[in-house]
Amino acid sequence: MAGDQEAVRRVEELRALVRHHEYRYYVLDSPEISDSEYDRLFRELQTLEAAHPELLTPDSPTQRIGGAPLAGFHQVRHLEPMLSLANAKNEDELRAWHARTMKLAQEAGAELGDLQFVLEPKIDGLAISLRYEAGKLSVGATRGNGEVGEDVTQNLRTIGTVPLAFLPGADPVPPVVEVRGEVYLPLEAFSRLNEQRIAARESTFANPRNAAAGSLRQLDPKVTASRPLSTWFYGVGNVEGEFFERHSEVLDWLKKSGFRVNPEVRLARTLPEIEKGCRWWEEHRDRLDYDIDGVVVKLDSRELQAALGAVGRDPRWAVAYKFAPSTAQTRLIHIGINVGRTGVLNPYAILEPVEVGGVTVGQATLHNEADIQRKDLREGDMVILQRAGDVIPQVVAPLTDLRTGAEKVFRMPEDCPSCGTAVVRAPGEVAVRCPNPDCPARRVEAVKHFVSKAAMDIDGVGDKLVERLFQLGMVKDSADVYLLSAEDLAGLERLGDKSAANIIGAIEASKSRPFARVLFALGMPHVGSENAELLMRRFGSMDRLRDASAEDIGQTPGIGPIIAESVFDYVHDPRNLSLIARLAAAGVTMAAVEGAAASAAGPLAGKTLVLTGTLPGLSRQAATGLIERAGGKVTGAVTAKTDYVVLGAEPGSKLDRARELGTELLDEDGLRRVAEA
Ligand code: IVH
Repeated sequence: MAGDQEAVRRVEELRALVRHHEYRYYVLDSPEISDSEYDRLFRELQTLEAAHPELLTPDSPTQRIGGAPLAGFHQVRHLEPMLSLANAKNEDELRAWHARTMKLAQEAGAELGDLQFVLEPKIDGLAISLRYEAGKLSVGATRGNGEVGEDVTQNLRTIGTVPLAFLPGADPVPPVVEVRGEVYLPLEAFSRLNEQRIAARESTFANPRNAAAGSLRQLDPKVTASRPLSTWFYGVGNVEGEFFERHSEVLDWLKKSGFRVNPEVRLARTLPEIEKGCRWWEEHRDRLDYDIDGVVVKLDSRELQAALGAVGRDPRWAVAYKFAPSTAQTRLIHIGINVGRTGVLNPYAILEPVEVGGVTVGQATLHNEADIQRKDLREGDMVILQRAGDVIPQVVAPLTDLRTGAEKVFRMPEDCPSCGTAVVRAPGEVAVRCPNPDCPARRVEAVKHFVSKAAMDIDGVGDKLVERLFQLGMVKDSADVYLLSAEDLAGLERLGDKSAANIIGAIEASKSRPFARVLFALGMPHVGSENAELLMRRFGSMDRLRDASAEDIGQTPGIGPIIAESVFDYVHDPRNLSLIARLAAAGVTMAAVEGAAASAAGPLAGKTLVLTGTLPGLSRQAATGLIERAGGKVTGAVTAKTDYVVLGAEPGSKLDRARELGTELLDEDGLRRVAEA
């Protein structure tokens, strides 16, 4: 029937379209159409298939979710065993593996100069094997004992990155092929899943790998479908008809056939290149949104792989260079409280020291009370610690299964732990504050901020020294720092005459820091270095800022009414006015260097600079201000006349041009150095 023929044609067309868009979305992470357009195609396919059930096939994209819960998993024998990997726990072991591999390759008749290796991130997930027959997924299994695994096909189908069929670009399409890869749970999804489980009073997962394994081994595929699992594919098992000469060709073929292949894969020829690659990942693993526990180094030639064979389950042609685990378990002994300079009470975790990601950790921040409640962290809990995406370790979740009942639920104190004043909770804010401006903890923190590198940059006066000076009653606020003498300091423990003199020199030098720095150093609520820069540009001096109304301050580009109000309040509070007056009397800058006269003598007088990319600590506007105040000029294009190109993250084509012309490049620190020289 013509109608049926039309249906067959349209079903095929829709499947190809849906597959293509799934591939763009899941594998390339680069969709071409909106979610609703995709949904429309998907629903049209579902409707057509419902009207023509005879056309339904298991590789149709509509068949991802479905199937009734199983009573248990069947066993599947892998056509080719799933091997394991020998570990190299350090660089010596990596070198030994390389030397042995070179020797074996030579004995197998290889030309050593031609050897090539492939470096792949070692995904800390769960190995899977997908069998495709004529390009269609037939069975998906876990590794099991390497020979026989569990049939989890129903569950694997629910993962968007598992192709149900090869893409049209697949060439060749072997009659039977086993594709090997790793199922994992992204770190963000892992934290979220644990939080949901806590809210539902379910036990937490200890790490992303356990969470991925638990999610895949579900008898009800709907549960698996609800977990945002993903995959990376890194090889093949049995291939009917041997098509590939190199492992790198396998990876290219996988990519073309629609499989997600890790874009971080690199080729290496020499041992130094291999070592460099391994070291690089050890240092940069935090950049990834999933956990890796090492780098896999593989010999590229499949002929040599076959010649080298395996010892037991470990192939001789590959090795796993292992990292220290980036998650760990330890005891949360106590939740302590820090009072910040604005009075905010910040809870932090005191932990039984444990190694995570190669460093020993004994403390971690806990953000705020709401976060502790959401994670249900209790004093005495065993907790999961994670170092990823950020160098600061995070407490991810408690291991609720290990609770004894002796754990203590945390409550934010009602009184400031430093001065005993009743804390306040502003409506709508998560933070709890100590409102007492004389709170000793607040005062110490204010001085620590004042002397810090980003503020007045008083070299030699660190947190410890500030605390000591407070204890001794030698400093009570920032202005007192300018009353210190070399004799005062030289008497302190571990500070000799020389260091004392250096510190006095640094205190002296700080008096001439630019006015924007002084504004920032005062620590007004909401005034970070950028807002300080904006206020400086608008008002130019402390006197003018004090004379301005709140409305006037709010007219400053980039400063909203709330910040304006808070700045206004700050500069009209008698205590702050007295502090400012004492700082001014000590000789601290209270006005911007004004006009062309000063700029013409500035360190960047007559220089032309170009900005490209995002600087970590300065907005474009603030950087421009800094340059102009130092007498320099900012232009848009790099030419032979450009003196410096200031380089931030993700620089554009200006960097290429600067390289061509050999223009001097500066980072943010470099810019500050030349502008403040
Ligand atoms: S290749 C013969 N490549 O590591 C080689 N494995 O410790 C067998 N894994 O069971 C595996 N990332 O689950 C290979 N890029 C990668 C990998 C990888 C993670 C896992 C895999 C394997 C285990 C061996």
